[in-house]
Amino acid sequence: MTKKRVLSGVQPTGHLHLGNYLGAIRQWVARQADYENYFCVVDLHAITVPHNPAELAANTYTVAALYLACGIDPTHATIFVQSHVSAHAELTWLLNCVTPLNWLEDMIQFKEKAVKQGENVAVGLLDYPVLMAADILLYDADLVPVGEDQKQHLELTRDIAARVNHLFARNQPPIFKLPEPLIAKEGARVMSLTDGTKKMSKSDPSEFSRINLLDSPDEIRKKIKRCKTDSIRGLTFDDPNRPEANNLLTLYQLLTGKTKEAVAAECAEMGWGQFKPLLTDAVIATLEPIQRRYNEIMADPSYLKNLLKKGQEQAASVANATLERVKLAFGFTLP
Ligand code: TRP
Repeated sequence: MTKKRVLSGVQPTGHLHLGNYLGAIRQWVARQADYENYFCVVDLHAITVPHNPAELAANTYTVAALYLACGIDPTHATIFVQSHVSAHAELTWLLNCVTPLNWLEDMIQFKEKAVKQGENVAVGLLDYPVLMAADILLYDADLVPVGEDQKQHLELTRDIAARVNHLFARNQPPIFKLPEPLIAKEGARVMSLTDGTKKMSKSDPSEFSRINLLDSPDEIRKKIKRCKTDSIRGLTFDDPNRPEANNLLTLYQLLTGKTKEAVAAECAEMGWGQFKPLLTDAVIATLEPIQRRYNEIMADPSYLKNLLKKGQEQAASVANATLERVKLAFGFTLP
């Protein structure tokens, strides 16, 4: 039986945080042997908003090393950098020419980011979901692990694929495979430490809103000490008036692997002063082995470079074959 193919991408902007780990990466790691995996550091996506050239390369290596440190196993996964495989940019152009403008103007994330940026919205920001569609379609991915915020982009990917199949392969074998979302059962949403109604996010201006995977124990302690709570005694899940309590208990549950019932019982009578040190210890214990492996990987840059080079070769062989198939269907000549 052939394994289903999974593809996912993480942007090398800022550092990965607990929300990325508990909401996404940990799920991939747990099930990586069941699939044929492609994990991409999407550096071309990182320049759709103003970026700092001096930081792009370092962040790209950091994200790749963190994938490995979190337990992605290169025997199950091809890890590569998006810009190393030129087919991503090239397929984006072809898809651009069959994607209606209003599909992109309707993307919620575009509208939100565009509002934040005011005057200087780049064409690339609007086009971002087409590049993401190219990432996915180049690998004939069966499944794409996505959080809530990326679901609309995956829908768009399916719409673009269906449109290309319809325009250029009617009554013929389809050009693109339509990908399905792979949605995590729990932990898909870890919320901000400063506002329990907002997702923990790399783009939140406050460092206190998130715990980064590379934060030191001291930083973790400080952030949890300062995180938003409420003044009600006894901690409970699922109270709509207590989003912070729900988030911090969920976080504790995810980190310790205990059941929700067990955590609810353990914390029912606690105050924040008693709970916060427990949460702090659980975060530090989870991140310690990841940080240790990260430091080992970064101590040997040639290992990471070689791995990404192999990843590039493997990814390019799949992506270039798809690109050629698309070009032929569009009617291009081949050299
Ligand atoms: N847009 C995704 C995000 O910001 C990153 C991404 C780019 C991606 N290409 C992808 C995710 C392909 C999954 C598959 O989270």
